[in-house]
Amino acid sequence: MPAAQSAPVAHASSSPPPARKLLSWYHRHRRHLPWRSAPGEHADPYHVWLSEIMLQQTVVATVRPYYARFLETYPTVQDLAAASVEEVCALWAGLGYYARARNLHKCAVAVAELGEFPDCIEGLRALPGVGPYTANAIGAIAFNLPVLPVDGNIERVAARLFAITAPLPGSKKTIATAAEALMRDQAARQAPGDFAQALFDLGATICTPKSPACAICPWREHCAAHAQGIAPSLPAKAKKPERPRREGIAYMLLDAQDNVLLLRRPPSGLLGGMLALPDTPPVKTRWRDAGAIEHIFTHFALTLSVKVARVPALPAGALHAPVGTAPVPSVMRKALDAGCLALNHAGNGNRSA
Ligand code: ADE
Repeated sequence: MPAAQSAPVAHASSSPPPARKLLSWYHRHRRHLPWRSAPGEHADPYHVWLSEIMLQQTVVATVRPYYARFLETYPTVQDLAAASVEEVCALWAGLGYYARARNLHKCAVAVAELGEFPDCIEGLRALPGVGPYTANAIGAIAFNLPVLPVDGNIERVAARLFAITAPLPGSKKTIATAAEALMRDQAARQAPGDFAQALFDLGATICTPKSPACAICPWREHCAAHAQGIAPSLPAKAKKPERPRREGIAYMLLDAQDNVLLLRRPPSGLLGGMLALPDTPPVKTRWRDAGAIEHIFTHFALTLSVKVARVPALPAGALHAPVGTAPVPSVMRKALDAGCLALNHAGNGNRSA
């Protein structure tokens, strides 16, 4: 009598799914992204590094215009190193996680001093702002080193392939180890850059978080979660505690030409090094209430009350920028928009107030 059939449960220690199937899918369906080289060609480490730093915590569509602007302004890592950190922060404004902008500049200076990007994982790891993920991404994509940059996409693919049901973040290590087992395949080791990017694309276009398109997945028959019918539910995530709510005030002072007074935030901490509205009144005047805006940061939700006033001229020596184009973080852009709306509703921009 045949043994009772049970759902096949793949395991990290069993043989990994064939890399060649994924690679051949990638060669047909890869996304055309501005930082990518043609299949089989090594990408420029500067392009890979810049795109990887930008892509952390952010989606491809958001990154595209920033990446284009950075490359246009700083065609080489030496150009980026020669810029001031303030200029880099201004170009970064709106991308979030501003420590990345400061580290980006620091790292460019370090690479310019070295003369080029290091071509080994230890050398890459020693660069400012380059953690294990980014080092592996540059190593695999630019230098063909047989390593795997395990990001959220690859985590999801691996959790499903091996039906790892333990919830994140506790299962992070288990999932990463399972993912790294994919690199045992010789075809993956021979093309680690294409392999990593194929996994990114699989995760972004087929093995998506909510409704994975298992029917067209090149690894469908190797996926334990698909066999068990649990793919959409993986990776499981532990419930996060609710974000605390904080409150603050921002003062928007305009002059007659629509320049807004700004301060530079201290170099570390929230919005570190970025231009922002002051949180205390910069001058004594009649402040008008412009309502409040909401903004979600990683660790808290902010309700920011906005006060506006217009004066004929800003205090001498104050940092300022045209209100419509000031290079400020998104939370401050929301505050400026709320302030402008309130002034416009007050009629004629409230110019004589
Ligand atoms: N996410 C992180 N790195 C990526 C890359 N190089 N291509 C596409 N998506 C990514």
